[in-house]
Amino acid sequence: MILVTGAAGFIGSNFVLDWLAQSDEPVVNLDALTYAGNLENLASLEGDTRHIFIKGSIDDFDLVAKLLAEYQPRAIINFAAESHVDRSIHGPEDFIQTNIVGTFHLLEAVRAYWNGLEDEAKASFRFLHVSTDEVYGSLTKEDPAFAETNRYEPNSPYSASKAASDHLVRAYHHTYGLPVLTTNCSNNYGPYHFPEKLIPLVIHNALAGKPLPIYGDGQQIRDWLYVKDHCSAIRCVLEAGKLGETYNIGGWNEKPNLDVVHTLCAILDQLSPRADKQPYKTQITYVKDRPGHDRRYAIDASKIERELGWKPAETFETGIQKTVQWYLDNQSWVNNVTSGAYQSWVGKQYCAEL
Ligand code: NAD
Ligand code: DAU
Repeated sequence: MILVTGAAGFIGSNFVLDWLAQSDEPVVNLDALTYAGNLENLASLEGDTRHIFIKGSIDDFDLVAKLLAEYQPRAIINFAAESHVDRSIHGPEDFIQTNIVGTFHLLEAVRAYWNGLEDEAKASFRFLHVSTDEVYGSLTKEDPAFAETNRYEPNSPYSASKAASDHLVRAYHHTYGLPVLTTNCSNNYGPYHFPEKLIPLVIHNALAGKPLPIYGDGQQIRDWLYVKDHCSAIRCVLEAGKLGETYNIGGWNEKPNLDVVHTLCAILDQLSPRADKQPYKTQITYVKDRPGHDRRYAIDASKIERELGWKPAETFETGIQKTVQWYLDNQSWVNNVTSGAYQSWVGKQYCAEL
């Protein structure tokens, strides 16, 4: 079996759903269920004995050691993290604790477990660390896309904490020989995306008749990948990636934020027009910029394409259409999420302007 951390979150839950749709290999899901963890994402697995959920933190060495001894996984995929840049600006401490100290404790428990394995199990074991393109910093319009060889230049407490975790993972390979793989992916979107992030926030606010907040001039560029394509890339790296290597994952889909918001508005105009027949784009509102806002991210995904033969299945156009349709079809999921802690976050983040 495999152990997946943070699999009640956005990408982790998509990963587990895809994994169990394609294989009968069981998954142990270790998730602390922070505000971002939502077991409703995995409701379709209720009663499925291939999914074992454990509520707990990667920061808890004893718990992780106990789980490893009990379930004897052949691989660990580490999604668990604090993931929202704006939250890291308001309060970095949780990011340091989970992303850095938590990854350290997880690595320590894994190292002890791996050292005790028989030769064959030891050789085939994998620790795959899921990371982000944000560790590379910000690009100008003219710069080439991030390659795996780019220098780390993180700019937010979130990206700095992810960069630190990547360095720890790398060090455990070089120092202790732990069989690690690291992936650095661009911005994901798709089902179960928590509506604090741009795409689900805009869909939710548009339908609720609320302002669509654009930070600064809206010309910041992100490189968007449909979440299922990220999941397929991780499966590919897990099975065929070279030990100790990092793989950039992206779909060559660079878009300025304002274009993304206009696209969402246009799709909503078609699929769910406003009662007053006005276009949703009239809800766009410019708000103050994110401090230290990275201007452009872009992933050069040629290594994973060339060496492992991975390619995304979705273009931005097909993926974004599916995503908007998913949110329209799953309004009760959105309502359940937005009725809780998320509301007080929105108050803190946008109250001055909206
Ligand atoms: P998310 O915030 O939606 O989910 C994170 C999950 O981790 C939640 O279920 C949460 O409860 C859990 N968690 C938090 N702290 C924990 C702890 N100490 N122990 C165990 N579980 C804990 O995040 P996401 O968007 O799904 O991102 C998953 C991973 O992918 C993160 O490592 C993130 O840095 C990385 N990533 C995200 C994106 C993106 O666009 N969302 C892109 C590239 C990489
Ligand atoms: O690049 C990968 C990263 O993508 C992941 O590592 C992070 O976990 C993930 O949260 C995401 O980070 P971003 O900061 O790029 O995503 P976010 O959805 O928060 O913002 C996307 C862009 O939209 C960014 O330029 C900020 C802008 N934005 C965001 C929000 C929430 C707005 O203009 N208005 C908003 O209300």
